[in-house]
Amino acid sequence: MDTSGVDHVRIFDTTLRDGEQAPGCTMTLEEKLEVARQLARLKVDIIEAGFPAASPGDWAAVHEIAREVGTPDGPVIAALARANSGDIDKAWTAIQPAAKKRIHTFMSTSDIHLEHQFRKTREQALVLIRDMVTYARSLCEDVEFSPMDAGRTDPAYLREAVAVAVAAGATTLNIPDTVGYLTPDEYGAMIRDLYENVPGIENCILSTHCHDDLGVAVANSLAGVRNGARQVECTINGIGERAGNASLEEVVMAIHTRGQFYGAQTQIETQELARSSRLVSSFIGVPVPPNKAIVGANAFAHESGIHQDGVLKHRQTYEIMSAETVGLDGNELVLGKHSGRHAFRNKLHAMGIELENEEEFQHIFTRFKELCDRKKRVDDRDIEALVAGERQHTHELYKLEHVQYTSGSGLIPTATIRLIDPDGRVRTDSSQGTGPVDAIYQAINRVVQRPNELIEFAINAITEGLDAVAEVTVRIREQGVPGGNGGART
Ligand code: KIV
Ligand code: ZN
Repeated sequence: MDTSGVDHVRIFDTTLRDGEQAPGCTMTLEEKLEVARQLARLKVDIIEAGFPAASPGDWAAVHEIAREVGTPDGPVIAALARANSGDIDKAWTAIQPAAKKRIHTFMSTSDIHLEHQFRKTREQALVLIRDMVTYARSLCEDVEFSPMDAGRTDPAYLREAVAVAVAAGATTLNIPDTVGYLTPDEYGAMIRDLYENVPGIENCILSTHCHDDLGVAVANSLAGVRNGARQVECTINGIGERAGNASLEEVVMAIHTRGQFYGAQTQIETQELARSSRLVSSFIGVPVPPNKAIVGANAFAHESGIHQDGVLKHRQTYEIMSAETVGLDGNELVLGKHSGRHAFRNKLHAMGIELENEEEFQHIFTRFKELCDRKKRVDDRDIEALVAGERQHTHELYKLEHVQYTSGSGLIPTATIRLIDPDGRVRTDSSQGTGPVDAIYQAINRVVQRPNELIEFAINAITEGLDAVAEVTVRIREQGVPGGNGGART
């Protein structure tokens, strides 16, 4: 790509904050850490690692990410804080270990939020913005301010609020379309208006933050870039509140493919996109739709005869970018069942997978050998699945020793299970169900006695073919735990 005359657009990844707070997308600390390591490999400029005031667990995850991933040549580690000193202090302590730190504070500016949620006047909100940005800036030299629900804020008041934050020392001004209400034209015009009319904004970075309620989060973010934004907030696979956030891979590849049009480029290692997408999808148990742009299984598949004919003659007849550019193929592992420890270790290293210790390596190597016995082609995706499986550090209370089930047309699905309980006792029980899987869970429930309901059971093949490795997602909701999907576990 000819990059003359183009600007750097910062990629601010909020998968671990806005993404992770979406229903059913929660991750454990180890999973968050693994995602953060991958985001660093992807070379995002900023990782929003979480919202430390939300819970001690969130604080700990941000702190750990800051410690491990926030190296001097790594990304900036940001933490979210509401506009109050308690939240700002928690954000600041959590990001301490990072070499490059950012406090991201926010306050709503739309009348509907001020009146009904915050019960504040516009003037009171301006005072809060001034005081809290000043306070954050007294701690940290990199401070981002977001006027929440900017998309529905009176434009004159939005200018005023942004100007107050700039005067108080904010270095990045992020303009959220919190409810995904705007059209690309409107969003672009809002960014342009701020860019041209807020005193001092020329010394700051304007940022986009778009939600996908009307399916235009990526288009809105790109309209922002066209109009002067130099940071885009986005998430892997577009996960996030409700319909999600702008999808990182789509924003990045749009800028990569049409750099001259956008007058911009990013520093993203695009070949890491597919892997980042798979990792997040496997941790949250939400499969990537096959027709998803950039990382979906069909994103580079040509089915129609006319297209295939064209692609065979010249790839670019029907392809504007290549599968290799986003890391979707060329990954086959040239190891097999005769490969030794040394070759396998080298392969993990080449994939950027760092194991915690020798014991973890031994487990994964054993599972790799077992897989080679069963599967003809083992590729990077299989290795990623082995590692991800090994790293799901679930605390095993009961051990499932034996499962037996009967099912078929005209039969009542029935299962018998044998569990070893936490005291080492062998427990056996049987149950019927609506299908074999349901029968198995009903039988387990009879032993464990924690009433719950199965809300999702899905098997997704990770690779192609009859011998494919598959990923199983099981979500259960504990009965009596309020909050819908909030009680679900993957
Ligand atoms: O959507 C939103 O307004 C947010 C802010 C906290 C930045 O996520
Ligand atoms: Zn958001």
